[in-house]
Amino acid sequence: MKRITFAKYDKPRIRHHSNPNVYLPLEQQKVELKGYPPVPEELPTDVLNGKQPTCLDIGCGMGKFMLEYALNNPQDIVLGLEVREIAVRYIKDIRDGEELHNADAMWYSVANGLPFIADNSIEKVFYFFADPWFKKRHVKRRAFSVELLREIGRVLTSDGVLYVMTDVPELDEYHREILAQEKWDVQEVQSDEQWGLGITTNQEHFSRLKDIPYTRLLCTPRTN
Ligand SMILES: C[S@@+](CC[C@H](N)C(=O)[O-])C[C@H]1O[C@@H](n2cnc3c(N)ncnc32)[C@H](O)[C@@H]1O
Repeated sequence: MKRITFAKYDKPRIRHHSNPNVYLPLEQQKVELKGYPPVPEELPTDVLNGKQPTCLDIGCGMGKFMLEYALNNPQDIVLGLEVREIAVRYIKDIRDGEELHNADAMWYSVANGLPFIADNSIEKVFYFFADPWFKKRHVKRRAFSVELLREIGRVLTSDGVLYVMTDVPELDEYHREILAQEKWDVQEVQSDEQWGLGITTNQEHFSRLKDIPYTRLLCTPRTN
């Protein structure tokens, strides 16, 4: 597996969360919000230089996974979607430095669905270590929802897969409930071989270092 030396790049200081309103859809905003990411209907032409993605990394954070995945899978075209603009700039910096032509990140809130992604066009959707938003009144800020799962189902190809990981048991339960409600098939994976990605995310790397258990799910929409 090829790796990227992230220490070569200046890592910005970044807050854990953004303005709370960005986790809710644009149409629910009562006033025009400064700092709300654009919600385009089509993929902007400066993203991926007009190429269409084959993989999405939803909430890609600082991008370790999506960048190293793209490096090791040149046949795939990976788009990271991230609500914190500074993280997106950092990812683009590394992408340019490593001359990776099959990866890009976009400043975007998935609370608005995936309107710029065509039906049946994505082979893999990654959704890793979501923000937990533990308080009951904050659950609506979680990116994973029935609406988002339907959008993921719409954009996945017929043999496409949604990969989900979390180290928060409450969130794992929440994901499984939504997946069951929407009648998705879910397979919990124990071994790295079965998982098949070979690359860890920033958060997964941390969980491994600290021996924090986490669950890995392979999810596919049920066809019958
Ligand atoms: C805990 S981090 C995990 C980052 C990365 N996936 C990993 O495993 O290391 C969760 C990420 O999801 C992003 N995020 C949360 N809600 C989002 C939303 N509505 N749209 C896009 N990104 C979102 C956060 O900004 C954060 O970077």
